Amino acid sequence: MRDSFANDLLSWYDRHARVLPWRIAPQDRAAGVQPDPYRVWLSEVMLQQTTVAAVKAYFARFTDLWPTVQALAAAPDADVMAEWAGLGYYARARNLLACARAVAAQGGFPQTESGLRALPGIGPYTAAAVAAIAFDRPAVVVDGNVERVISRVFAVEDPLPKSKPRLAALAATVTPDQRPGDFAQAMMDLGATICTPRKPACGICPVIAHCQGRRAGIAADLPRKAAKAAKPTRRGIAYVARRADGAMLLERRPDRGLLGGTLGWPGSDWTDAPAHTPPMDATWTTLNTEVRHTFTHFHLILTVQVAHVPTDAEAAQGGFLPDFAPSALPTVMRKVWEAAAPHFD
Ligand code: ADE
Repeated sequence: MRDSFANDLLSWYDRHARVLPWRIAPQDRAAGVQPDPYRVWLSEVMLQQTTVAAVKAYFARFTDLWPTVQALAAAPDADVMAEWAGLGYYARARNLLACARAVAAQGGFPQTESGLRALPGIGPYTAAAVAAIAFDRPAVVVDGNVERVISRVFAVEDPLPKSKPRLAALAATVTPDQRPGDFAQAMMDLGATICTPRKPACGICPVIAHCQGRRAGIAADLPRKAAKAAKPTRRGIAYVARRADGAMLLERRPDRGLLGGTLGWPGSDWTDAPAHTPPMDATWTTLNTEVRHTFTHFHLILTVQVAHVPTDAEAAQGGFLPDFAPSALPTVMRKVWEAAAPHFD
């Protein structure tokens, strides 16, 4: 099974590999072109956040600004946080920097899965992906795409997340010793383009001959998933103040916790019933429109208050920033700005 599955998948990949900015095409790889581990690592960290389509622009911007891991390691934290804004999971941006600095200090990326795993902020997925893709080590790379493909190929009916260890063990049984990096990327491409969550294109699947889920007529229903707990809704208040000279009242969050280290509008805690303590004395106007945003574990509804304040005004919470760029804010704070901006026209 191992070799015929891998052979069928790899010969499909040789013809249909997606062209991606961080990827070495299989023909070039075969001719000896080595991937840049920095670009592989950076892309994998970004791809854990969002889709290939959304990552492309961030990847281009990061590699433009910081073409090497040494350059990224030397970047000021606030610059990296600002460029990461919009990608979400801000702890990952801090981990990204911590990892870049550790790699730069040790003179380059370790080449083994265990060496990579020892770096700050690198989990089992990233270590396996970089070991396989950048260094062609036979690591078993399991992301959500791979879990879906494997659950179908082996007709695994146990629900996620309980089935994760079994899916990883089954993935190991089909991972080849030859071309493990191309194999990992082929599994991801298959999951993204053919073995899709809904309406998989089984008619053009290169590994249909191996697919037990297809044979049993249940491929499209897999993987099964345990019912998720409903997300609670929390509320909060965000305060947007502009000084007469154009400076905006902003505050950087503490490094730990949700949105850690990001820039945003001062506000209340996010709870069932937020307490109301404006960051400064001013005439605050409450906007009619509320801002909604969904995080991993809860929905948030923010009431927005706005104020025009004089240039000599002082704030009890946060500080006035003269050159404010909405692009440097995380998405929820950018939504607040979009709601508030018309008030300052
Ligand atoms: N998703 C996560 N990593 C990927 C990669 N290397 N290629 C394509 N899709 C991916």
